[in-house]
Order: sequence, then structure tokens, then C-alpha cells
Amino acid sequence: MGYEFIIAETRGRVGLITLNRPKQMNALCDALVRELSAALDDFEKSEAIGAIVITGSQKAFAAGADITAMRDFSYMDAYKNDYITRDWERIKTCRKPVIAAVAGYALGGGCELAMMCDFILAADNAQFGQPEIKLGTLPGAGGTQRLPRAIGKAKAMEMCLTARMMGAEEAERAGLVARIIPTDKLLEEALITAEKIAAFSLPAVMMIKESINRAFESGLNEGLLFERRVFHASFVLEDQKEGMAAFADKRKPVFKHQ
Ligand code: CAA
Repeated sequence: MGYEFIIAETRGRVGLITLNRPKQMNALCDALVRELSAALDDFEKSEAIGAIVITGSQKAFAAGADITAMRDFSYMDAYKNDYITRDWERIKTCRKPVIAAVAGYALGGGCELAMMCDFILAADNAQFGQPEIKLGTLPGAGGTQRLPRAIGKAKAMEMCLTARMMGAEEAERAGLVARIIPTDKLLEEALITAEKIAAFSLPAVMMIKESINRAFESGLNEGLLFERRVFHASFVLEDQKEGMAAFADKRKPVFKHQ
């Protein structure tokens, strides 16, 4: 598939999307996000894909929404076109796991895009920040909601109100990222992680992703009930029968993703 601002390719059962607008530090213009959404559609549809990695360059995952493109938006431009919700939130509705492999700057909408993914693997040079305050605006792609859920109110407030950037070590300590990886090994390690997930039973993976997301989107009792019902439903999977039989037989399971 030919894209202008991203590269979409497959590595085994992993769909790899590389943001590729290097001169603008992968600033997220409408066309780039539309392409990202289309690539996610394709990977979601493909039976051959079990997990997705989104990455940028070693210098920038993404330096935010494209400031040049949006500077003259009127309220009506933003409202009628449903700016951000359209295309950006395709990541949120993706049912297969999406890993953000972040090196360099993940600022503004770049940080928010990474947080829309299921988890973030950070290169040791990663810098996270919500500097919208410097532009006279605010995080508009979920940053005011997902950042406090990830790192707590105090750090989120401080970052959003002062535009301070957070390095990889602090981000790991604060719970924003799952793991730190040396920059030159980031992609390799992200692909290994994604391939590991993609080798498990896809429906079981999807059930886990959906259930963990309920922890962020509902209260405890509703989340627990959702998890319990999905757990009950998992007994319908051929892969559950295979996984448990393989354990009993002391052999490796062969999952059919059904
Ligand atoms: N939009 C448009 N262009 C951008 C951009 C952005 N978000 N970020 C960087 N660029 C462009 C620069 O304008 C520059 O272009 P030119 O070469 O044509 O001048 C090019 O990318 C390289 O950038 P710099 O020369 O600034 O590189 P640097 O290494 O000195 O600094 C940086 C890098 C710290 C990331 C700096 O570019 C920067 O602060 N960028 C803006 C970050 C930002 O404010 N992000 C939030 C955007 S608003 C938002 O995202 C809203 C939302 O929540 C949805």
C-alpha cells in the first residue's frame, strides 16, 4: 500500500506502521492521521495480523498536531470536521493490540497518540510532554484525561501547566511507559514483544485488551462483571481447549486464533 506520510509493512504476524514525515518531526497533519487510520483498518481486517506496532524515527515519535495546518482553524472548522475525533481515535477503536514504540520527542498530540495505544515501549532518549500551554491552547487528543490516569494528577497537572518534558526514566517510574529500551534496539525489541503477543490466541488477546480497557472506562464493579463474563465466554474458544490440553500434555499449544 503506497502512503505518503507513513510506511505500513508486515513483519510476520505484526503490522508495523512508521510515521514518516521527517522534516516536520512527524507533526500529525490530517493526511498523515488519515493514512494511519487506513493502515489500522487494513491490519484490523487481516487474519494474518495479530498485533500492531506504531513507531516514528529515532529523533521524533511525533512532535504533535501540525501547528501550521491548524493555526487558522475557526471554531466551525474544528467542530464541523470533528477535528481529532475523526481518524485519530481509530487507534482507540482498534480491537487488536497496538504498541507505541517511542524514541525522541512525543509531544502534544504525539504523546497523546502514544497514550491511545495499549502500551508504550520507550527508547532511552524518549521525551514526553504536553506543551500546548505554550501555544495558548490545551491538549486536545485525550491528554488531560489519559495522562492523569497514567501518571497521577500532580505530575499531569505540572506537565500540562508548565510544558515540562519528562524523560524515559521518569516516565517509567511514573507508569507512563511499560519498559525502557536502548534507542538502537527499540524497534527490534518492540517487534519481538508484538510477535510474542501475536503468537497467542488472538481472541484471548482481544478479550484481555477489552477487559483491561474497562478498568479505565468504568467503575470497579462494572469492570469486574465485564471481566467475569468475558472470562466465561472464553470457554467457547478452541484455543482455550487447546491451551489447557497442551498444558496437561506438557507440549506447546498450537493456536488457531478461534
Ligand atoms: N507542527 C508543525 N511543524 C512542526 C511541529 C508541529 N507540531 N513540530 C516541529 N515542526 C517543524 C518545525 O516547524 C520545523 O520546521 P522548519 O524546518 O520548516 O522550520 C521542523 O519541524 C523541525 O523542528 P525544529 O526546528 O523546531 O526542531 P528542534 O529540534 O529545534 O525542536 C521540537 C524540536 C522541540 C519538537 C520543536 O519543534 C517543538 O517544540 N515543536 C512543537 C511541539 C508542540 O508544541 N507540540 C504540540 C502541538 S499542538 C497539539 O498537539 C494539540 C493537540 O493536543 C492535538
